[in-house]
Amino acid sequence: MTAEELRKCYVGFFTERGHKEIASASLLPENDPTVLFTTAGMHPLVPYLLGEKHPLGRRLTDVQKCVRTCDIEEVGDDSHLTFFEMLGNWSLGDYFKEESISMSFDFLTKVLKVPVERLAVTAFEGDERVGKDIETAEIWKRKGLMDDQIFFYGAEENWWGPVGQTGPCGPDTEIFYDFGQDKCSDSCGPACHCGKYVEIWNNVFMEYKKEADKSLTELSQKNVDTGMGFERMLTICQGKTNVYDTELFTPVMERLQEILTEEHTEMSMHDKRVLCEHSRAMCFILGDDRHLVPSNTEQGYILRRLIRRMIRVLKKAGLDNDVLNVLADIIIEQYKDVYTELGRNGAFILEQLKKECDLFSKTLDGGLKKAESYLMELTTQMKRTVETKEKVEQSDDRQVSEEQTKIKMLSGSLAFKLYDTYGFPIEFTCELAKEKGCTVDLEGFETCFLEHQEKSRQGSEGKFKGGLADHSTQTARLHTATHLLHAALRQVLGEQVQQRGSNITAERLRFDFSYPVKVTKEELTRVEDIVNTAIAEKCDVIMTEMSVEEAKRKGAIGLFANKYGEQVKVYEIPGFSMEICGGPHAKNTGDLICFRILKEEASSAGVRRIKAVLEE
Ligand code: ALA
Repeated sequence: MTAEELRKCYVGFFTERGHKEIASASLLPENDPTVLFTTAGMHPLVPYLLGEKHPLGRRLTDVQKCVRTCDIEEVGDDSHLTFFEMLGNWSLGDYFKEESISMSFDFLTKVLKVPVERLAVTAFEGDERVGKDIETAEIWKRKGLMDDQIFFYGAEENWWGPVGQTGPCGPDTEIFYDFGQDKCSDSCGPACHCGKYVEIWNNVFMEYKKEADKSLTELSQKNVDTGMGFERMLTICQGKTNVYDTELFTPVMERLQEILTEEHTEMSMHDKRVLCEHSRAMCFILGDDRHLVPSNTEQGYILRRLIRRMIRVLKKAGLDNDVLNVLADIIIEQYKDVYTELGRNGAFILEQLKKECDLFSKTLDGGLKKAESYLMELTTQMKRTVETKEKVEQSDDRQVSEEQTKIKMLSGSLAFKLYDTYGFPIEFTCELAKEKGCTVDLEGFETCFLEHQEKSRQGSEGKFKGGLADHSTQTARLHTATHLLHAALRQVLGEQVQQRGSNITAERLRFDFSYPVKVTKEELTRVEDIVNTAIAEKCDVIMTEMSVEEAKRKGAIGLFANKYGEQVKVYEIPGFSMEICGGPHAKNTGDLICFRILKEEASSAGVRRIKAVLEE
């Protein structure tokens, strides 16, 4: 089945069942400060999901172009993309679970001929707000799925939406393709990342609205919002194991290989995939009728980051930036019949691409030299420390490795200099540092950045992965919980635990920290207990302003990328934690009520990630 056949047969299947086809909306959402790009087919339909009447009726279907920047680091593996197409169908207060699941099942098994035994599905396990979705499981069973093909998960996996802070949301049932290999462990299931299962479709039963005060109210109508990953489904339909082997990517991949052969140079498979994937995303973002251009803010920054990353990949292989034009031409040609805007804006795409390449070429070499000297300095210092330690026979390995972790970190101010003077996106600097075995002080960078850009406004898919999504009471509580978690981790695992990133939404906190191995269940329980003890003790959270030197002297942890003598805010939870931080925080730890860790996983080499929530 070709790509175009898959699009047509999906839309055809649903139009035959009473759905009206709607056009793909722009990649750049209008009047919505909460997201940078259209990330799902439902996004342009929010008002209708909330009850407004849609001019085409209550059943809709489409193919929506989407960009999700959250997966940017994963690009290069078999399935993660920044740009993708989403096949969707909606019921706006019309059919609900039974009919939705039946149609999905028929489309997969009858039209695409996926064998039933290759399917696995998930359903919502229930929580204090909404009960377990037995109904969904029963419907799947009636379709012929066995008990061991049906999995229940909590809100982290099986609750979808809202897109921003408020809006339509609900429990979902996700449909996975099972590649058929053995389970990687007893607990292996669709939520596992071992590669056995890949998510292909998500049916959300949107009957709730999340309000600004975080409560859920029932919508006036029960909706269904579904989204199928087009590229992933096509991979399966074409019997491939990765998206780059489908016809969507083979033309650019083959042309790139020809160029590499002509130029007698080589490139890793990962870099080839990054080039092809980012080229496609770039063409679609620049090709959007809204004529977005590379810049230092919001969507323009994402675009800039994609292009600059590609320039660096080419440079590594000794290739000229013109390669990007060649790849863009192929992509425009390939997609222009389906997405006519690419044809319409073809000249604009190439013109803007050239501008950005020229701009960056002016500073790239100088910046790379600077970065190299900074990193060289770090690695030399690191070696010196190890040698000194060995000499004085204090070769306590743990102490040495702690020193190394600290020294290997490029300061936020130097990273900011590379950004400000040489136009190096921070992620780009992180990649350079990683190649030399170093890290970057991201929060220090952010502090410098915010100092220079007072009015920097960020959406939920903001320029930095870190930071707070908003400044509500809920995020303030989660922020205080993050400080307690940080302190508790250091208490249980040792002082080698250092913050590597923090991301807080209204629902949960996500904390990345340096630590070489998986944290055991027992250790996590101890960490939870420490945090909950601090909560039970109802401590006041005390903020004091002092100089950065005094803060250091007092033993405050946090980032010291501040200028000498600068006044900083220090938040203290007496007896538990003291951190330099900008706030905001809860007034008293008692406001946090109950802390629970949902997940502990690897984030990158030597960095672990914890997701946690506060429960009522
Ligand atoms: N809106 C749902 C998703 O993006 C279908 O997964």
